[in-house]
Amino acid sequence: MPPLPKNGRQELGVRGNFVWINHYWEVGDMRTLKHLVGTTVALAVFGMAGAAIAQDDVSTTKHNLALATNAVYQTTTAQICVFCHTPHAASTTAKPLWNREDSAAAYQMYNSTWSSTIDMTVAGSPQGVSLACLSCHDGTVALDAFQNAPGAGGGGAGTEGYAFVGADAGNLFPAASFAMLGADLRNDHPISVTYDNTVTGDTAFNAPGTFTNVTLANGAVECSSCHNPHDSTNPMFLRGTNAASALCLECHIK
Ligand code: HEC
Ligand code: HEC
Ligand code: HEC
Ligand code: HEC
Repeated sequence: MPPLPKNGRQELGVRGNFVWINHYWEVGDMRTLKHLVGTTVALAVFGMAGAAIAQDDVSTTKHNLALATNAVYQTTTAQICVFCHTPHAASTTAKPLWNREDSAAAYQMYNSTWSSTIDMTVAGSPQGVSLACLSCHDGTVALDAFQNAPGAGGGGAGTEGYAFVGADAGNLFPAASFAMLGADLRNDHPISVTYDNTVTGDTAFNAPGTFTNVTLANGAVECSSCHNPHDSTNPMFLRGTNAASALCLECHIK
């Protein structure tokens, strides 16, 4: 048996899902070992501390339309936020402080008309934050159609004539991109669904208070529930790892 470490010494370690602390001390000439094991509770505390420190960085992502290593970018302005946000004269339909022209697309929603197993209330059209994502990803609004273009004046319907690489004619989102969703949302996870884990007919949902990474926007599942448009630490701008479908299981009990 190896000799025990010195009196008063503590060791901390992590193995699998366990955190352990060994505390050694002496009573007379007896050496004693106290072995404390904490499980995922302790890990959750470590995890939360990590999440608080992690910071978004939109500049390195595909959402930086001034980044020339992306498949889709432009060379007219070096600004980043402007393609999505403006401090003034923002949209009053999409949010937050949304700087893109509203989409006029007629969306087909994923609702109970389409799928009989939908029990929660789905809005008639995409709301707030989802509308924001779709103002690029439905492919109908020019990528440079601002509410408020950089500098004095500017903005309004249609392209501002920015020099784009990788966009379709009229500076539209490239139709051939894997990231083009279109306006038919029946082949996408339901959005603008008022989340109600106590809804009659469905007992397979966790309470929102248990979420660790996913979020609701004004009480509803929107694009931003699963995606963080500012950071691609996790692939596909996901809010957390989807290994073992962890992201899905934050809401679904399956
Ligand atoms: C590709 C579009 C896009 C770009 C570029 C972008 N954002 Fe956002 N931003 C969004 C969307 C969509 C939301 C709402 C989703 C959410 O709550 O995370 C949002 C939310 C926010 C919020 C409020 C919620 C939060 O996360 O704090 C702030 C503040 C913000 N953005 C700041 C910025 C700044 C500053 C920049 C530039 C450095 C930027 N954004 C670039 C799309 C974008
Ligand atoms: C200003 C336009 C714009 C807005 C607004 C926007 N995106 Fe994107 N998004 C893009 C472009 C451009 C790409 C890159 C497409 C490509 O490379 O083919 C992209 C790519 C993506 C990808 C693929 C990422 C990858 O790593 O391959 C995801 C996921 C995505 N966007 C989600 C969202 C979500 C969710 C929102 C709203 C919260 C949003 N986007 C808002 C323009 C936008
Ligand atoms: C319930 C969670 C969830 C919601 C809500 C959601 N997404 Fe996603 N999205 C994902 C996941 C998970 C992936 C990664 C799929 C993969 O790896 O193939 C993804 C992938 C994508 C992609 C990449 C293309 C693809 O087909 O893989 C785009 C673009 C995207 N999402 C945009 C959006 C937009 C815009 C919305 C709102 C209209 C939205 N997402 C709503 C979970 C979600
Ligand atoms: C933020 C919470 C949330 C997350 C995360 C989430 N879902 Fe959902 N999902 C919902 C809600 C809410 C519904 C609608 C439930 C209803 O009305 O019955 C739904 C519906 C579904 C449906 C059923 C659609 C139907 O026709 O009945 C499937 C399948 C599904 N989600 C799969 C997934 C998968 C796969 C993932 C992970 C990629 C995922 N969900 C992540 C909240 C979520």
